[in-house]
Amino acid sequence: MKKFSNLRLRGKSETYEILVEDGNITEIMPKIPVICETEDLGGRLVLPPYVDPHLHLDYVFTARKQGNKNNTGTLFEGIQRWSDMKHVLTIEEVKSRARDGVRKEMLHGVQMIRTHVDVTDPGQTALKAILELREELKEMIDIQIVSFPQEGMYSYKNGVDLVEEGLRMGADCVGGIPHFELSYELGERSVHKAVELALKYDKLIDLHCDETDDPHSRHLELLTALAITEGIGERTTASHTCSFGSADNSYAFRMMRNLKKAGLHMISCPTENVYLEGRQDAYPKRRGLTRVKELFEHGINVCFAQDSIQDPWYPLGNGNLMNILDHGIHLAQMMSFEELDQVLDLITVNGAKTMQMQAFYGIEKGKPANFIVLDAQSEFEAISERAGVLASVRKGEFLFKKRPAAFEEKNAFFTV
Ligand code: FE2
Repeated sequence: MKKFSNLRLRGKSETYEILVEDGNITEIMPKIPVICETEDLGGRLVLPPYVDPHLHLDYVFTARKQGNKNNTGTLFEGIQRWSDMKHVLTIEEVKSRARDGVRKEMLHGVQMIRTHVDVTDPGQTALKAILELREELKEMIDIQIVSFPQEGMYSYKNGVDLVEEGLRMGADCVGGIPHFELSYELGERSVHKAVELALKYDKLIDLHCDETDDPHSRHLELLTALAITEGIGERTTASHTCSFGSADNSYAFRMMRNLKKAGLHMISCPTENVYLEGRQDAYPKRRGLTRVKELFEHGINVCFAQDSIQDPWYPLGNGNLMNILDHGIHLAQMMSFEELDQVLDLITVNGAKTMQMQAFYGIEKGKPANFIVLDAQSEFEAISERAGVLASVRKGEFLFKKRPAAFEEKNAFFTV
């Protein structure tokens, strides 16, 4: 039995205590009258761990590799650069990079990751590596794997078979990239196939969907329609949907209704989207994001993700979800004080819902004692200061604990 004391929870002004037994939360109250080992959290804000629902662990730290530089900064050159280099991958090399990527994310407070893994590789090197890594790290972090055909289900030889093989090998979700298929018709066929495979293997779906400024790229419409007719909206995610930010309002009006009806999950990757999209625009230059604010206002589950850590698509990225949130709320113009009270959902609970992990997630009695401690006392301070994570707790034990930054010297002006 262990107690965490002097902590703040979202939406509450007073401090609370959390009691943990056998790794689970058994009590949450302002004062718990139990004497046991106690960790004083200094009045800081405690959140459920950050969730990164869209990442490419097999690609991390490849941006500077020989011949891998993306000179145009476009999505399509990124895919080409990756295609050119992936034949040299080995399981150990992928695991080593991916492990470093997971470590970076965890040190920023992430405890759940959904990673897309490229299966357009007859040797399935990357998938084998990430499956092994997931097993190795399973006590510390939940990793969900998407069987993702980076070069297309129908545009890459045997792409559909490779996606299916990925599911049989242990991937949790069916992936796809309809806007990259060689024709719109092949893109639509890939959406149908993703749904068919998800039903056949009882898996989730997460498509890279309409990651383009082309307002005519509307695979989201078909994905949503199939999610409704098959009744699998809760299991279905559309990632990116950049074109939805360029589409006209009459299409968006109809789609909001259908997305809500389907219960579809939407993922936006603000730093990558703003970096990769708008590349063919002069001025005005589009932001490349989907309609995050409007989705949020319509009660459609939407969340933010990192997507890339130094790969051919994006030269930066370090797994810091607070940085992603900061960019996202600026780009989506979600900074009314009412919105600021809610936007932490975009990197926490909304991601957990997308991953269908909500039964094991949240600071509630009966759930695993998984949480993070921010260097802030309120949600507003956390966001405005882009507060760092001082500790990450998993099943009641510290994964890590940092000291807050301290001055070596300061004059009277800085003493408050
Ligand atoms: Fe992606």
